[in-house]
Amino acid sequence: METVLVTGAGGYIGTVLVPKLLNKGYYVKAVDRYFFGKEKLPQHQNLEIIKEDTRKLPEQIFENVNYVIDLVAVSNDPSGELFNKATWQINYRSRVRTAYLSKKYGIKRYILPSSCSIYGFQEEIVDETSKTNPLTTYAKANEKAEQEVLPLADENFVVTVIRQSTVFGYSPRMRFDLAINGMTYGAWKTGKLPLMRDGTQYRPMVHVQDTTDVMVLLLSADKNKINGEIFNVGGDNLNYQIGKLGKIVANTVQKETGRNVDIEWYGDPDHRSYRVSFKKIKETLGWTPKWNAEMGVKEIVNKLEKGEIDKTTETITLNWYKELEKWYNIIEELKMYGGILNIDIDNDEITPFSLNK
Ligand SMILES: NC(=O)c1ccc[n+]([C@@H]2O[C@H](COP(=O)([O-])OP(=O)(O)OC[C@H]3O[C@@H](n4cnc5c(N)ncnc54)[C@H](O)[C@@H]3O)[C@@H](O)[C@H]2O)c1
Repeated sequence: METVLVTGAGGYIGTVLVPKLLNKGYYVKAVDRYFFGKEKLPQHQNLEIIKEDTRKLPEQIFENVNYVIDLVAVSNDPSGELFNKATWQINYRSRVRTAYLSKKYGIKRYILPSSCSIYGFQEEIVDETSKTNPLTTYAKANEKAEQEVLPLADENFVVTVIRQSTVFGYSPRMRFDLAINGMTYGAWKTGKLPLMRDGTQYRPMVHVQDTTDVMVLLLSADKNKINGEIFNVGGDNLNYQIGKLGKIVANTVQKETGRNVDIEWYGDPDHRSYRVSFKKIKETLGWTPKWNAEMGVKEIVNKLEKGEIDKTTETITLNWYKELEKWYNIIEELKMYGGILNIDIDNDEITPFSLNK
């Protein structure tokens, strides 16, 4: 049985990827701080939960591992700005460290899940050879990680970078801070879908089932086709103009629920746009996405209607990290004797002279 080490395994993408790997017969070492909870991964005899920080991952974890999928990250732009230092450490340094250790321990393949956001906004349709234009800490840290892990590739160590489009769809660690997911929730909950003017801007999207399919595919793909390579992950038909995407979401929610959904435009016209070519992954690996936005919206609406998911603080990454930091500080200040109200003491210790002993 081959072993895959997945970092960030408790996240939005990880909690979809890990069950897929288990179904394919892999043994999985699932590393995460589990900021979003451990219970989102299934219990399985071939799954080893490792609660660890990737900045301090002990070397023995790399023993007997065949593949690494290094998902770990502070995973969006606003969190990257607020937790700037941690983002550089986790998204860049810890991933380069993990790639080095993977090579040192003779691991066969290392996959770095990066992001199309490193292209920034550009007029032309960009492909893997285009100049990048990372605009945020999150995008810059991804680019630095790419630049330092790719040169590690050699004939015994396969390194592949995938630049994922913005992901959508249901995951056990649900995220409503992703474009399609957030729009769907707004339309479903309030019947109003806020859209930034003027709607002509393009953004590439990919479903979480599709991007995790690519990760699985890369474990067995012909190494000569993928070693040292970068692949954009998405579909040419999934380069959505925001206005059209808003209409797809509104119509789908309306159809699924029978309730009216109106689009509400806001802001000054934003022409920042980027369109990505997905020709390379299609021609090299014969891969194209199976899902589109409409299917993803339907899936989420069904889960919302059944009450299986909801928009809680935990589903908005930035708010959850802020909340965790806030409570960490409060608890550090208040805790005494191992607790707050419940402390580490028994009754006799308080009233050794008690009459009703
Ligand atoms: N979701 C998207 O739209 C998208 C798009 C492009 C690229 N990506 C990339 O895919 C990867 C996964 O994204 P996601 O959406 O699943 O994000 P996520 O925030 O849901 O998952 C990240 C996981 O990493 C864990 N983590 C954070 N810091 C850690 C640390 N120091 N040590 C151990 N664990 C830690 C968190 O607990 C979380 O479970 C990220 O690298 C992200 O940049 C995501």
